[in-house]
Amino acid sequence: MENITKQLISTAKAMVAGFKGLVAIDESVATLNKRFELAGIPQTEAYRRAYREVLITTPGIGDYINGAILFDETVHQQTLSGVPFLEALKKAGVIPGIKLDEGTEDLAGFPKEKVTKGLDNLQERLTTYAALGLKFAKWRGVILIDGELPSQACIVSNTHALARYAAACQRAGIVPIVEPEVIMDGNHTIERCAQVTEKVLRSLFEELYLLKVELGGLILKPNMILPGKDAPEKADAALVAKLTVNCLRNAVPATVAGIAFLSGGQDPETASQNLNAINAAYKEVLPWPVTYSFSRALHQPALEIWKGKTENVKAAQDSFIKLAKANHEARKGEFKL
Ligand code: G3H
Repeated sequence: MENITKQLISTAKAMVAGFKGLVAIDESVATLNKRFELAGIPQTEAYRRAYREVLITTPGIGDYINGAILFDETVHQQTLSGVPFLEALKKAGVIPGIKLDEGTEDLAGFPKEKVTKGLDNLQERLTTYAALGLKFAKWRGVILIDGELPSQACIVSNTHALARYAAACQRAGIVPIVEPEVIMDGNHTIERCAQVTEKVLRSLFEELYLLKVELGGLILKPNMILPGKDAPEKADAALVAKLTVNCLRNAVPATVAGIAFLSGGQDPETASQNLNAINAAYKEVLPWPVTYSFSRALHQPALEIWKGKTENVKAAQDSFIKLAKANHEARKGEFKL
């Protein structure tokens, strides 16, 4: 086996080891500003840096978090006392990664559907990030359920881009997190989410195969199987776990290094309960480590507690570490409310 493949496999394993998970702190400037606006926090670079510092310097972060996905702005920032964030993370035992996609644009000819941008100059950007010491990357494709949608065109456009990105990452020695997110918007049933997600994942692994991506050096970041957020019928954790495990077992090869869910707008408690149900009831039949790569379900409460004020930093960090620990328990199937 080539050295680069060995290195990819070892990094991917380290990202999901020890019943720990990942934290996504890679919100784009626009997304983070939107969250700041809702919480009454000024939308400036200084406040974005300060918020990233709250999370990155949380005492004990490395006890529950193996890796942090960063946005480009954060990669070049440092703590107030002058420690580069990349250094601070490494010191805490957290592997730094980078969001590589550049958001979505309309998929021409397919109203309401999106395709992800960012394939241009990918090789150059990967070389730069690898030199900075970033070990993994993330790319998110967005799939909307709405009546007959998603179209096959939307599924293939997004899964093909994910595979192109993943192949480019591996060539640069960077582990790709591939995130084909079937979003919760809409009133569709949980069964419809299962059907669409399985179709998307099957298409994704076909494209990854075509592009010769090494699955042992890749992390899948899927949605859990959930009803649409406006669906009249809700689903309990037992049903979410059953359909999620069924879908993943049908469509994801056992060689994939790990599965790390997005939270997708679930509140923190629900996300932990669902992750817990998956690991508690199905651990014997899961061929991959199944863990978390949440943004909102790990640190949205911290943001609302912090509010941009120094005197709230400790309480915000306490909230973040509490949720990280809760998900670590859920990863083991031992989470209790
Ligand atoms: O791409 C989305 C993030 O990495 C995960 O965010 O957990 O809030 O859905 P979320």
